[in-house]
Amino acid sequence: MFYEPKDGHGLPKNPFNSLVIPRPIGWISSVDGQGNVNLAPYSFFNGVSYRPPTVMFASGNGEVEDDGMKDSVRNIIETGEFVHNFVTWDVRDAMNLSSATTSKDVDELAAAELTPIPSTLVKAPRVAESPIHFECKLVHHLDLPNTTGNSKYTVLFGEVIGVHIADELINEEGRINIDKLHPIARMGYQDYTEVTAETVFTLERPGFLSKDDLFTFPKEPDAAE
Ligand SMILES: Cc1cc2nc3c(=O)[nH]c(=O)nc-3n(C[C@H](O)[C@H](O)[C@H](O)COP(=O)(O)O)c2cc1C
Repeated sequence: MFYEPKDGHGLPKNPFNSLVIPRPIGWISSVDGQGNVNLAPYSFFNGVSYRPPTVMFASGNGEVEDDGMKDSVRNIIETGEFVHNFVTWDVRDAMNLSSATTSKDVDELAAAELTPIPSTLVKAPRVAESPIHFECKLVHHLDLPNTTGNSKYTVLFGEVIGVHIADELINEEGRINIDKLHPIARMGYQDYTEVTAETVFTLERPGFLSKDDLFTFPKEPDAAE
C-alpha cells in the first residue's frame, strides 16, 4: 500500500507508530518554577549528536491545561532543564503509570511510588529506580509546522551536561552490560519490546573503501566476518 498521510491511511489504527520501531523511551523528569515535580515518558525521543551529547523529544498538545501544553514542555521551557531517566524492564509499570493524563500539580514520580534523588547540575530530580540518568540543559525548542488542523508538536533539544551510570552496569572491559541493564523500547499500538544479551548482535563497519572495493565487497550475510 501507499498512502499520503494528509489523506488518511484507511487502516483501523494509524500505522505510523509501528513503522518507526523500536523507539527508545525518554523518561523525562522536570520541575516548574516553584519546584513542583513532573515525570512522563516520551518515545518520540532519541540521541541526536555525540559532541556535545544531545537528546531530543517531541510532545503533542496537552489536553488538561489552558495553554495546550504538556507539563514537561511547559516546565522545561520555563526552567531550561530536565533529566532523562533510562527505562528498564523493572520500571515498565511505573513508566506507564507516569504517562497518565493529569493536572500540572500532580507529581507522577511520587504517584508511581518512585524515589526522587537530587541531580548534580540541574534542579529536576532523578528517578532512583532507573540506573542511568542524563542531566540536560535545553538548547532549542521549536514547534513543527501544523499541517493537520489541531495537532501541534513541539520538539525540545537538550544538551546532556551530566551522565550518571550505575557502577554495576559497567563490566571489566568498561562496556555497558546490556543484560544487566535490560532496556525496553516502544513498538506500535500499546506494544513494547525488550533487549537482552540474546537479541544483541555485532556488525563491524566497513570503514573507508575505494569505489572498486565497495562494489566488490562480499554481500552475503556475515560474509565480511
Ligand atoms: C511509552 C510512552 C511513550 C509516549 N511517548 C509520547 C511522545 O513521544 N510524545 C507525546 O506527546 N506523548 C507521549 N506519550 C504520552 C505522554 O506520556 C502523556 O501525554 C503524559 O501525560 C505527558 O505528561 P506531562 O503532561 O506530565 O508531560 C507517551 C506515553 C507512553 C506510555
